Amino acid sequence: MADITNEMRHTLAEKAWQARKNAYAPYSNFKVGAAALGVDGKIYTGCNIENVSYGLTNCGERTAIFKMVSEGCTEFVALALAGTDDPEQITPCGACRQVMCEFCHNIDETEIIFAGKDGQIIVETLDKLYPRPFTKFKTQE
Ligand code: THU
Repeated sequence: MADITNEMRHTLAEKAWQARKNAYAPYSNFKVGAAALGVDGKIYTGCNIENVSYGLTNCGERTAIFKMVSEGCTEFVALALAGTDDPEQITPCGACRQVMCEFCHNIDETEIIFAGKDGQIIVETLDKLYPRPFTKFKTQE
């Protein structure tokens, strides 16, 4: 697990719920918020952003991570996810798991925090959610 406090986990969970309010999800009506803690100590939030051309949708997790990268931080140590009242009912899609791997500080320690509506949290490390990932590679001869 990352070296972060339980207080910080709950702060990230709250920020994810706040970010969820800005979700633009008129097609699915499924709102998602996320909050990533960068190695720089800053919190980057995001929400899902849909489009009438459905495939152009961006998930909340990737919005938060892309905001972080665009502001000069390329690694996060924890990310909270708020979607459903019950934290068991939300989980990141495959595309987001791959993007998380690209920008996590350390896959074995990076925490994905599933945030429930009533303040309850479930914590999983990214290596459990995304085993045997495709990572940076050396070019073959
Ligand atoms: N979505 C996310 O933003 N994150 C997830 O973890 C799962 C799915 C979004 C994409 C789309 O806007 C809506 O939820 C329904 O799939």
